[in-house]
Amino acid sequence: MTTPSLTDRFDAARETLKNVRQDHALHFYDRLDDDQKDHLLKQIEAIDWPEVSRLVESHVQSKPHFALPADIQPAPYYTHVPSSELEGKYRDARAMGESLLRQGQVAAFTVAGGQGTRLGWSGPKGTYPATPIRKLPLFACLAEYLQRIERKYSQSCRWYIMTSEVNDTATRAYFKENKWFGLDPECVMFFPQAMLPAIDITTGKVLLDSPMSLALSPNGHGGSLKALHTSGAIDDMKRHGIEQISYTQIDNPLVKVVDPLFLGLHAIDGCEMSSKMLPKAFPKEKLGNLCMADGRVTVIEYSDLPDELAEQKLPNGDLRFRAGSIAIHAIRVDFVASLNGAATGFQLPYHRAEKKVPYVSLDTGDRVEPDSPNAVKLEAFVFDALPLCSQSIVYETDRIEEFAPIKNAEGVDSPVSSNQIQIERSARWLESRGVSVSRDDQGRVDAVIEISQITAIEPDDLQGVKLPAAIDPGASVLL
Ligand code: UTP
Repeated sequence: MTTPSLTDRFDAARETLKNVRQDHALHFYDRLDDDQKDHLLKQIEAIDWPEVSRLVESHVQSKPHFALPADIQPAPYYTHVPSSELEGKYRDARAMGESLLRQGQVAAFTVAGGQGTRLGWSGPKGTYPATPIRKLPLFACLAEYLQRIERKYSQSCRWYIMTSEVNDTATRAYFKENKWFGLDPECVMFFPQAMLPAIDITTGKVLLDSPMSLALSPNGHGGSLKALHTSGAIDDMKRHGIEQISYTQIDNPLVKVVDPLFLGLHAIDGCEMSSKMLPKAFPKEKLGNLCMADGRVTVIEYSDLPDELAEQKLPNGDLRFRAGSIAIHAIRVDFVASLNGAATGFQLPYHRAEKKVPYVSLDTGDRVEPDSPNAVKLEAFVFDALPLCSQSIVYETDRIEEFAPIKNAEGVDSPVSSNQIQIERSARWLESRGVSVSRDDQGRVDAVIEISQITAIEPDDLQGVKLPAAIDPGASVLL
């Protein structure tokens, strides 16, 4: 097959763009050299323009209206500690999850395509130094977890990492430089998600980031369910006999990258996609609410749940809507395959966000840094696939055990708060093994402790590890 010339590609692109009234994207084309032309045309060719046109109408020229489902109930969930009737089921589930891992039937899947704007780190977020002593990058935290899993179950766990155009090259290079953090490179697969252009909020026109580039951003973590398919990752999983996907985000160094109990409960109950939850700390905590809406598990964003529902309490004082989604899911491979195989096509809904997006002025060719939101960015969210499932469970996890996200540079969900939680988890694990850990009068650990996930991914792994009898105030202890 002959490769089409730049001229042919330009003609095709112009035609496509004209049809959707976005041909200004080629405004500077004549001033570009051939490499720059190729770059711009590649971006244009990768975009589904009829879809952009529909989105301009539905999400820019008008705002999609969120309709609260008529019947919302709290989602039932498996508690962190089982009731006595469920102890047997939890034992069986854990055994089932372990068996899936031993047979290599689980894929670890990390979404790492985001821009990490709030953190303000220059590289991919996975390269951010996350742990209290070694300053281990987030990617390495997850890799250590998988190394430990491999040792535990005498089976490597394939790891699929979704990147995006903003960080794909840097992510692959980082893994290479760091020798895949001790994992077999054959078992680590990267693939980029799709991008969408930012759209001018008043004109509905896509913005240019430079004369040779559209202002593109990744299409949300929900884009993963399509990208898994289009990248060939689902086929690769099937070739390797993988049945379940353990979906996690890159920004949580304590995440159980694959959790046998959760995967087992999800598999035993025959679910297509399941979720972990945390009891919310307060009614409007910025976590999606796992609810039952019209009989299906559904996430309702914290901003969409009416205050009177968010604040409802049970007789025991707990919030009635207490299940906060922490973006950890178990997903059956054949569920993702069937979504993508649907004759009607498949697209999760897009959510609209108004953002400040720098752009090149078509009149002057100058770059403009807006000081108020000038553009609409569109993102799909993975949890919107939950209502498409006929079976879906929710499992409660523990905040200190598994949730130390790094999202913001300061304050809530920052490196400092994440380090505090990591240290607290280490302290609890040591205390459960009889180590005396120094705490201040508020009960806070007043030492710095880090337990490598190669040493332990759960407290029982510390059996047989030489531990100190006590951790003194101000000590720094790495195990
Ligand atoms: P966030 O929603 O926290 O976004 O992503 P972010 O990009 O990391 O940070 P901000 O909002 O720009 O500050 C949660 C997870 O989803 C991934 C992120 O990489 C992170 O692991 N994600 C997000 C994607 O993979 N693709 C996207 O398009 C968006």
